[in-house]
Amino acid sequence: MVNAIEWKDGKVIILDQSKLPFEVTFVECTDYRQVAEGIKKLWIRGAPAIGIAAAMGLALGAQDIKANNLKEFKKGLEPIVDEMLSTRPTAVNIRWAVEKIRKFLRERRGESVNRLKELLIDEAKKILEEDIEVNKAIGKWGAELIKDGNTILTHCNAGALATGGYGTATAPMFVAREQGKNFEVIVDETRPVLQGARLTAWELMQKGIPVTLITDNTAGALMNMGEIDLVIVGTDRTARNGDVANKIGTYTVAVLCKEHKIPFYVAAPISSIDFSISSGKYIPIEERGPEEVTHIFGKCQIAPDGVKVRNIAFDVTPHKYVTAIITEKGIFRPKDIKKLTQKNVDLDEVRLKV
Ligand code: MRU
Repeated sequence: MVNAIEWKDGKVIILDQSKLPFEVTFVECTDYRQVAEGIKKLWIRGAPAIGIAAAMGLALGAQDIKANNLKEFKKGLEPIVDEMLSTRPTAVNIRWAVEKIRKFLRERRGESVNRLKELLIDEAKKILEEDIEVNKAIGKWGAELIKDGNTILTHCNAGALATGGYGTATAPMFVAREQGKNFEVIVDETRPVLQGARLTAWELMQKGIPVTLITDNTAGALMNMGEIDLVIVGTDRTARNGDVANKIGTYTVAVLCKEHKIPFYVAAPISSIDFSISSGKYIPIEERGPEEVTHIFGKCQIAPDGVKVRNIAFDVTPHKYVTAIITEKGIFRPKDIKKLTQKNVDLDEVRLKV
């Protein structure tokens, strides 16, 4: 499996996912503005992956700051931070990464500017490595939900490509596979930019997991025919009350699950939970340009010239539709995730018993 992003020889290397699965090409970023462009243009996408990209973009931009002291250095970082924060609004992971870097700088305020530049590179690499460990832990907990012979539906791509590696929604599948369980995955194609068809199907096939690709509007029929046992999706931002923002179409899947009594699980690293907002109504939702809807791959036009388009990239699934949230600390009912920030809480008492 190729890496979505890595730091190599002083550059940020981004796999251009907009070309997958037909071309495996990498963009070598030597300027933080290229990293920001890559996030905007979906060369790199998926909430944890764009958080990592933001951290690496900051470390890259920091190398060119001319500063004699910490104050000047921090001032030099601000336009880079602004550029990263302006790329995509919905995933909280960019802000999470920026805050982590800011905290890191506060803790290292005694260091020289040159040393801080080096340390920022290490910190960005660490964010990537820790993300992989988090995903493995999500996988360990989530694999308990997968039984031999299950058919799992997923939407969009919350796989290795959307993270530092291993994925979030895919992690339980990868662990269940390692445990020798046999199961199948139904992948929603995920219009408009087809992350399911292009990325998730590709990833799962590489791991030898049986995959069936469907158009987004097929999910309800399969549920009605009794062919789906559970759903696992990722999230770009989950609010304190367990409302979940994820790729457009997730809400539809969740409502269908309720109707058909199918469990709807969300794999959410704690970096994707925004404890500062009380509900999903405060999640900013990205709207993208019309060409993703009127064209396939920016090439083949499928709608009349000048047609009015709404291209809403994410939706919010109210917590009442969410069976449970799989985090690196265990599986929790949506109402209980706020307890992850509370002191003196025995998580063993709160975790969902599977
Ligand atoms: O527009 P994208 O491709 O960045 O949307 C990605 C998703 O919606 C994912 O499900 C989400 O970021 C979770 S990735 C672990």
